Amino acid sequence: MKMLYEGKAKQVFLTENPNEYIVHYKDDATAFNGEKKDQLAGKGQLNNAISSHIFTMLNEKGIKTHFIKQIDERDMLVKKVTILPLEVIIRNISAGSMAKRLDLKEGIAFETPIFEFCYKRDDLGDPLINDDHAIALGIVTREEVEFIKQETFKINEILKDFFMKANLKLVDFKIEYGKTEDGEIILADEISPDTCRLWDKDTDKKLDKDRFRRDLGSVIEGYQEVLERIK
Ligand code: C5P
Repeated sequence: MKMLYEGKAKQVFLTENPNEYIVHYKDDATAFNGEKKDQLAGKGQLNNAISSHIFTMLNEKGIKTHFIKQIDERDMLVKKVTILPLEVIIRNISAGSMAKRLDLKEGIAFETPIFEFCYKRDDLGDPLINDDHAIALGIVTREEVEFIKQETFKINEILKDFFMKANLKLVDFKIEYGKTEDGEIILADEISPDTCRLWDKDTDKKLDKDRFRRDLGSVIEGYQEVLERIK
């Protein structure tokens, strides 16, 4: 199979069907724009399983996603889309780069979720941008921004409920959207502990990639626990 694209944690392959791609999950872990790197045996399987489970649930709830089906331990079949160069972030509780940038303590629950865009450009360090920048850069139209915001807030509500049933707080997350050939914008990429901050509801124990970023240890065990809790 021909590889179309290789990212930090995934590869995308062409299939015989021109409308479908295969996403392959690797064990590579990176943080701080690639400065910190490691291999975490089993991460690919766990993220594929967790993402597949979450996309299936979102599809059932009427959210349009690129996910078609899980093929095997490390691979999922998806609809062909062109990924928009935007990281779409929602924050329900203060943490990470926002806490640092604004000198906030981590763990403050916001009354309403905070929406952010970052421009996906490794060479610039994925800078924070606003709606007008995204439009001026020619990535999306004003109407598409409105759609992405509404859809993302809807996804946040579904994911918050979903994780709460697993006794997990959805602190924040990053998603990406893609455009189909007929111009429809649908949810793409992955949803996993690599892309969400997930804390235990009672103890605030971190079960996500911050274990890797902050050298907290037992990274894979955290991801495994997420999978077991949501299954
Ligand atoms: O680092 P920061 O606090 O901005 O991250 C916000 C959320 O977006 C976190 O859940 C993080 O895992 C996710 N994220 C991501 N990929 C990036 C940057 C952030 O999945 N390149």
